[in-house]
Formats: sequence, C-alpha cells, structure tokens
Amino acid sequence: MILPEWTTGNIILYGYLAFMALAVFPLEYFGQAMMAYSKFRPAQGLHPRLGMFILYFLPLVAVTISALPYLFNSSAIQLIVFATIFIHFAKRVLESLFLHKYSGPIGTFTTFMIAGFYSLAAYLIGYLNRQPLQFMDIWFYLGTILFVLGIIGNFIHHKILANLRKNTLDYIIPAGGLFNFVVCPHYLFEITAWLGIFLVSRHLASLLILLFIIGYLTARSIRTLKWYQEKFSEFPASKKALIPFIL
Ligand SMILES: NC(=O)c1ccc[n+]([C@@H]2O[C@H](COP(=O)([O-])OP(=O)(O)OC[C@H]3O[C@@H](n4cnc5c(N)ncnc54)[C@H](OP(=O)(O)O)[C@@H]3O)[C@@H](O)[C@H]2O)c1
Repeated sequence: MILPEWTTGNIILYGYLAFMALAVFPLEYFGQAMMAYSKFRPAQGLHPRLGMFILYFLPLVAVTISALPYLFNSSAIQLIVFATIFIHFAKRVLESLFLHKYSGPIGTFTTFMIAGFYSLAAYLIGYLNRQPLQFMDIWFYLGTILFVLGIIGNFIHHKILANLRKNTLDYIIPAGGLFNFVVCPHYLFEITAWLGIFLVSRHLASLLILLFIIGYLTARSIRTLKWYQEKFSEFPASKKALIPFIL
C-alpha cells in the first residue's frame, strides 16, 4: 500500500476521507442524509439526465486535469490506473445520457454533493498516480480483471433496468442476471470495479474511497430492498439486497 507523507494538509484530507468512509453507511441506512434521487427522490430538483450528467462529467474533467502533467509520457501502470477512472466515469456519462430511463428529478444539493466527492476522488487518484506502483504484481493483474468484470456486469444490469421501461416509466420488479437473486446487482458490480481500481492504484486514498463506496452502496441496497418489499406485496421473500444468498 502506498501511504501519503503525513503533512498537516494530508492529515486533514485523509481524516476527511476516513470520516466519510465510516459515516456514509449510517447516514444512508438510517436516512438522515439519503441521496435524494431515483426511488428516494425529492419532489423537485434538477432534470435527472442533467443532474447525472453533471455528477459524472465533472470527475471526468477532474481526473484528466490531474493526470495532464504525466499523461502523454506515462508508464503502462499509470496509463491503466488513469484508464480505469476515465472509463468508469465516461461510461456513466454515456449511460446517463443514452441508456437510463429516469422517472423523476434528482436533488440539486445531492447532485453537487456527489459531484464534489467524486471529483475529489477522481482528482486524487489521478494526482497520486504520478507515483504509481513500481511493477505489476499478481494483485495488479487481478485488479485489472476485476475492473473489467465490474464494468461489464454493471452495464449488463443497467441495460436490464432500462429494458424494463419500454412502454412505461413505472417501477417493475427486475428479473434476469443477478436480479433474480438481489435487488442491486449493479451496485455489486460497481463495488467490484472499484475494488479493481484500488488494486491497480494501491494508494491509501483509493482504499478509503473504496470503503466509502462499499458503505454507501451497501446501505442503499438494503434501503432499496425494503422499498421493493413495501411497494410490491408479491415481492419474493428470498431476494437479498446486494450479495446473492448472503446480504
Ligand atoms: N460509486 C458510487 O458511490 C455510486 C453510487 C451510486 C450509483 N453509482 C452508479 O450509478 C449506477 C446507477 O445507480 P442508481 O443508484 O441511480 O441506480 P438505480 O436507482 O437502480 O437506477 C438506475 C436506473 O434504473 C431505473 N430503475 C431502477 N429500478 C427500476 C425498476 N424497478 N423498474 C424500472 N426502472 C428502474 C432508474 O429509474 P429512476 O431514476 O426513475 O428511479 C434509473 O434510470 C450504479 O449501478 C452505479 O454504477 C455509483
């Protein structure tokens, strides 16, 4: 693991990231600071396509700016680390614009809060990538595979969700792929992709960002399962939130 120099600035920055990683699960799970979009949307807010575009496009700009000093002269490791972040956010921009079929607004505060956190995360990983791993070890290869698996699995399940809305913008119980076992397989694959990003970058910052994402998506998937159980009386009792047969 690559650790930062413990300057005052870094202690504050890493303290903030650690606090966020610890706090996000209870805040999202108990609903004090639930992200206001999709099934937990506000009454008013930004058009969802615009909001989602903003919150994924800004990190794309952030990682590109932070990588500019070495981008055109980078090693294979630097290129792969940069590519993981760039591909992740570029995919989300494209999915937000052309794949997802949204049915309601996203909160303005939520949009800029998420955009801020993702931009910080993307900038930081791009910046720390100036001093990457020395060589590609087995964990690096595993990380690359997990990233690709995560991106593909995440896309497949987003496509399943979009296909539910051929003639309606209502909510329907999703089926197909891992949706037969859990309500948020797309989150599971998102976590898989970020686990991959951590393994290829291996900075303390990317570990804290991964922990934040695990906390957030675990809490939100549990809330989503409860939402389905309350909305659909015929909802299958065996379905879990995030990990088939376990959680
Ligand atoms: N890294 C992170 O911290 C993080 C956090 C959150 C999300 N993400 C990424 O963003 C992706 C999408 O997340 P999300 O929270 O927006 O997912 P989501 O709430 O499941 O929504 C995804 C899309 O599917 C639609 N949808 C959801 N359930 C549906 C149903 N039962 N019937 C019909 N349509 C349905 C939603 O429409 P509505 O908008 O109308 O609900 C939306 O267009 C994740 O898979 C992940 O890749 C990343």
